[in-house]
Amino acid sequence: MPASTHTRTVEGLIAQLTLDEKALLLEGVDAWNTNGVARLGIPRLFLTDGPHGVRKVRKNSGAFGLAEAEPSTSFPTSTTLAKTWDPDLAGQVGAAIGRESAALGVDVLLAPGVNIMRSPLCGRNFEYFSEDPLVSGVFGTAFVQGVQSQGIATSVKHFAANSNEDYRFVGDSVIDERALREIYLRAFERIVKDGAPATVMCAYNQLNGMYCSDNRELLTGILRDEWGFDGLVMTDWGATHDRVVGLVAGCDLDMPGQVAHNRAEIIAASRDGRLPVEVLDQAVARVLALVDRCTHHQDAEPVDAAAHADLAARVATEGAVLLANDGTLPIDRSHGGLAVIGEQFERMRYQGAGSSLISPPTTVSPRDAFDARGVEYRYARGYRALDLHIDATLEPEAIETARDADTVLFFGGLGDLEESEGFDRTTMALPDAQVRLLNALVDAGARVVLVLSTGSPVEIPRHDELAAVLLLSLPGMNGGEAAARLLFGERSPSGKLTESWPMTAADSSCAADYNVSAVSQYYESIYVGYRFHDRAGTDLRYPFGHGLSYTTFDYRDLAVTVDGGRVDASVTVANTGARDGAEVVQLYVRNNRGRVFKADKELRAFTKVLVEAGTEKRVALEFDLADLAYWDVAEHDWVLENGDYEVVVAASAADLRLSAPLVVDSGRASRSPHPEHVERAYAAPPRSIPNAFAALLGRAVPAAPPTKRLGLETRLGDAHGSFLGRIFLRAVIGRVKKDFDAALALPDSLERDARAKSTHFVLRMMPSMSLRSMAMSSAGELPYSLAEGLALIAAGHPIRGIRRITTKTPTTEDAR
Ligand code: BGC
Repeated sequence: MPASTHTRTVEGLIAQLTLDEKALLLEGVDAWNTNGVARLGIPRLFLTDGPHGVRKVRKNSGAFGLAEAEPSTSFPTSTTLAKTWDPDLAGQVGAAIGRESAALGVDVLLAPGVNIMRSPLCGRNFEYFSEDPLVSGVFGTAFVQGVQSQGIATSVKHFAANSNEDYRFVGDSVIDERALREIYLRAFERIVKDGAPATVMCAYNQLNGMYCSDNRELLTGILRDEWGFDGLVMTDWGATHDRVVGLVAGCDLDMPGQVAHNRAEIIAASRDGRLPVEVLDQAVARVLALVDRCTHHQDAEPVDAAAHADLAARVATEGAVLLANDGTLPIDRSHGGLAVIGEQFERMRYQGAGSSLISPPTTVSPRDAFDARGVEYRYARGYRALDLHIDATLEPEAIETARDADTVLFFGGLGDLEESEGFDRTTMALPDAQVRLLNALVDAGARVVLVLSTGSPVEIPRHDELAAVLLLSLPGMNGGEAAARLLFGERSPSGKLTESWPMTAADSSCAADYNVSAVSQYYESIYVGYRFHDRAGTDLRYPFGHGLSYTTFDYRDLAVTVDGGRVDASVTVANTGARDGAEVVQLYVRNNRGRVFKADKELRAFTKVLVEAGTEKRVALEFDLADLAYWDVAEHDWVLENGDYEVVVAASAADLRLSAPLVVDSGRASRSPHPEHVERAYAAPPRSIPNAFAALLGRAVPAAPPTKRLGLETRLGDAHGSFLGRIFLRAVIGRVKKDFDAALALPDSLERDARAKSTHFVLRMMPSMSLRSMAMSSAGELPYSLAEGLALIAAGHPIRGIRRITTKTPTTEDAR
């Protein structure tokens, strides 16, 4: 689209497009490209994942395109990035990924993922930033601005309330209006308003009974009308339900597309008036505007691969969290006597499985980093992560290696069989082989430092008998370098947790209803993460915001001033130890005690400050009084209540250092929009689903759909109880299982690990898919007519089903 023709671009081009061409423009031509219209010079757009690098697959294979990708820097995953508490680093990472996207010809990066970590069990937590909406929103905004500074468009995902993987294709997130606004939408709101992302990707799941891709209230009412979003909305891959309803709702682009049924529906509905021409043209206009934006932007800066690799190492270092330390760390490496146990030492798990898988040009494992420093150690593998059975020879060998060692470094955590996109965990426990080995080492009297790679909280066996715990999270391609810098004291740890770590999953804030059925009752309402634990008094393994250093910090002289709607706080942070270090200062505001239930305190500002040993710095933090407002369901608006609040400066949600009163009188007197019994039920966080949940919702809680029969919207795993469902599930699983088994049969190698990881992701995801989501995401491989036909047969209509399977749907093929 030449610049000179820009004015004719939107209106003029729309006037020249045929109906078939419009329908084509509103979907993908394959997994990663949109359709173009060659005769009018409208190019295709190239979209690819995100968020931790650029996943440009070499060959377009199937819907989820898990083929090997072009090399690109594998940055630490989002959870690690957020644990730096330094949004400037998120901006730098975004810009670096933007530059690499430009060099690889990418137009739209499918990132960042900003869903709230509702449960420690969610398989995809590693791709998200936090349980807290402020942290998620601030990091998401910085990332979007970074990527888009290089002329590359972003797609903020998954809008909205996609909090699990097991039910993501069919599940219904049932959330009260207030929790939705204060917790699940708030990060998106901030990013849309402050970061101006070019696109938003809607989630697979339903939100309060309506699929997100069909949800007009969400995609138009809230996103566009309220927040002023003027970009394009695309589906998640295969998230379309009713294409025409979706278009009317504001869902413009259907990905990966190639669903003849959807195009035919658009055409039929345009002809019979169900789809008004203005609605169709508006969606086409948004696609054309995105095409224009992606073809006319300033050039990106050149890629400096070495600088990006350094940045990846820096983020991994600053995002690692020292969870516990009895003084064993840092290790004096000249001292000797070091034993290292655990496969992750040499085969580090540096990223998660699924759509975010990056192929880095190189990696630096902890072993590489130790060897580069000439560190002396004895090593035993101890366990094998990508194996279905425990290898009994590895444990005794590891115990022997650890015998008489001064310190044992145990590299462990979750493997890709336990944690991945596509499925959730059922427990926070570490893999059995690691638990057994840790127990055996501690029993043998070893001084064990646990170095953890995991994208989500895990149970820590023998915690109080461990010498130290260092969390690397999923640290990207140079994670080993970060580990060595921190373990040997070249740097002082400075990361802090962005989610609470309960002792076990049973202690988490949504434990009573996580993955119980396709209807997820978000019964805990606003009490997510620390908002729950604060009030419930949970005995946590580690609180939100926790992280130690090799030095210590004192806080003093908190001053708070209010000027108009702005609150300014300042505090002196003194480094009282012998090493330089950085401290994450957290500002919470303790809420007023009014008539409306609230969390005890909420994070309102944070900053990270580097303080040299023996010196101090004055640190400034600020927020708007309006941030203290709660969402009032009677007003359908934010309401600031008058009352006595308190500014609290803290080193973690459980390590409060200083506080100052904050009196608000510019708001409204406290008045509850809820019936009295709701206020009573929610005065403290519920530990089970309260009867008052329905009243809080304002309607009856929907019943979970009957699950057994194979239907268009039935989770395949739930349909296995029926004959047809069982046969179908076996057939699809059998196909993928062959690939997984073939990967496991390969000789022990990194290649085997990589193939096992990718195929396992698809294998585990299959039971959570439905006939519809398979048809929508298979880029033509499973025709929608076949899916519908199978559902009809399963519903007892064999003749209609067979007719449906054999009847050709009218398509727009001729227009291609
Ligand atoms: C994921 C998205 C991803 C898309 C394309 C989906 O399954 O949920 O996050 O961008 O696939 O790979």
